[in-house]
Order: sequence, then C-alpha cells, then structure tokens
Amino acid sequence: MTNSFQIVNQAFSKQSAHYDADDLQNSILKEWRTQVYDHVQQFLKPGQRILELNAGTGLDALYFASCGNEVLATDLSDGMVHEIKQKIQYHSLNGRLKVQQLSYDTLNTLEHGKFNYVFSNFGGLNCIDDLSKVTTHLPSLLKHGAYVSWVIMPKVSVWEILGLLKGHGQKALRRFKKNGVMAHLEGEYFPTYYHSLSDIKKAFGSSFRFIQSEGLGTLSPPPHRDDLAKEKPLLYTILRKTDEHFRNSFPFNHWGDHIIVTFQYQGK
Ligand SMILES: C[S@@+](CC[C@H](N)C(=O)[O-])C[C@H]1O[C@@H](n2cnc3c(N)ncnc32)[C@H](O)[C@@H]1O
Repeated sequence: MTNSFQIVNQAFSKQSAHYDADDLQNSILKEWRTQVYDHVQQFLKPGQRILELNAGTGLDALYFASCGNEVLATDLSDGMVHEIKQKIQYHSLNGRLKVQQLSYDTLNTLEHGKFNYVFSNFGGLNCIDDLSKVTTHLPSLLKHGAYVSWVIMPKVSVWEILGLLKGHGQKALRRFKKNGVMAHLEGEYFPTYYHSLSDIKKAFGSSFRFIQSEGLGTLSPPPHRDDLAKEKPLLYTILRKTDEHFRNSFPFNHWGDHIIVTFQYQGK
C-alpha cells in the first residue's frame, strides 16, 4: 500500500465509527443517495452481481443486496471493512452481501468471477490521481454489456467558485490544481484529485460506451451545508428542484459537487 493510501486508511478508519450516524442525520445526503439509486436502477436488472468500490460502511451495498442483488463490497480502510462485516452479521441477507478489503488499484487480485455492475459512490475515487489505474482492471472483471456507475467530484463546482465572491480564492479554485489538493479528515492529511467528465471518458477508453452523466449539487448546496437547507428551506427547494430538472443537460451533467457517470462495457 502506498504511503498516501495508508493515511487514507487511517483517516477513514477513524471516521468509520460515526459515519453512519452522520450520514443518517444529513438531509442533503439522503436526497443524493436516492438520486444515485434512481440513476443506477435505470440500468440494473434484478438479481445482478455487483462489485462495489470504496464501499465505506456498506450503506449502498446493504441497499443493493436488500433489493435481491449479490454484492461484493470492497474498501481500503480497516474501520470501514469492520463496519461492513457488522452489517453482514446483523442483517439476514442469505449470503448476498460479501466484503473484501482491497484498494481499487489492485482489482486484478480479485477472484470472484465476472460482474454485471461496478459501482462507486461519493468521491472514493477522488483519492486516486489517475482513474486509468482503476479502469485498466475492469475488462477482466466484467461481463459483456456490464454497466459501471461512479459518483465522482468533478473539477467545476459552481458552489465553490461562488466562494470567490466572498474572497475565498484558494478554496474557490482548488479543484483545478494539477497535483491535487490536501484533504483534512480526522486529523489526517492526504491528497485528493478532481476528475472532469472528459478525463473520466479518457480513462474508460474505447472498450466502454459513455451512457449518461448527471450532476449532484450543481446549484444547490453540498451536504456539509445542510444547515442552509434547514435555515432557508424555500431557497433550498428551488435550487434542488432546478438541479433535478436539468440534471441530464449541460452544464448540469458536467458540473456539481459530484457527478454520476455511467458507462457500458463493449468487450467480450
Ligand atoms: C467518502 S467515503 C464514501 C464511502 C461510501 N461509498 C459512501 O457512499 O458512503 C470514501 C471511501 O473511499 C475509500 N477509499 C479511499 N481510497 C481508496 C482506495 N484506494 N481503495 C478503496 N477504497 C478507498 C475510503 O476508505 C472511504 O471508505
């Protein structure tokens, strides 16, 4: 494991203990997860084999397994993997949810056969500088016609750029920095990288067909500003409805706090 991934492991392991409680309290995150599920459900047939990357505490893995799919949840962090194991023990899922500790740049070491879907939610893939270090492993793991849906932080966040008006220059333009940005989580510092839709398409290459992208939080505030959603509910609702309505059109499908991107595997 690289030194930076060791720090990522420490940071997310510390966060894992209170991750679910924080998530459940956040009304914006709740809406965003629903939007992500609606997106994926367009392409997911019943009873599919799903590989989840950077699965965190397994909230989404549990959801997809509860819908009748077979899910292999993977994550780098000791603490997150522990939380997924707890969920497997607690919920009766007839073996449909499994876990393996794994960094997504070593997917070539997986020995679980081929999958119909590869899913990654909420910016786990922003911990790697070059997405082709992940996509290079996908063809050997995918069935023909398999889908890949990833939720990634892109370079353009209108919400952050508006920070320029408030004199927050550094933060407003940080996503454009070539060598990434140091994230601060639970007292640990590690590099994170923002990926534009064109960078993501390049990483997938010609054996994947681009299907769809949609924005999350293009005009409406990101989850860490959940206070605004509560203090100004009318304004929040207008911004959120605007995001929802235009989410598949430019620039709403390129810009946002996160974007959901889906590709389909064309190889054999
Ligand atoms: C913001 S959390 C998102 C977790 C989960 N997908 C969710 O939606 O709640 C990011 C996750 O990415 C994981 N992660 C970061 N780098 C990783 C890597 N190289 N391989 C696998 N997981 C990684 C972290 O351990 C953490 O669980």
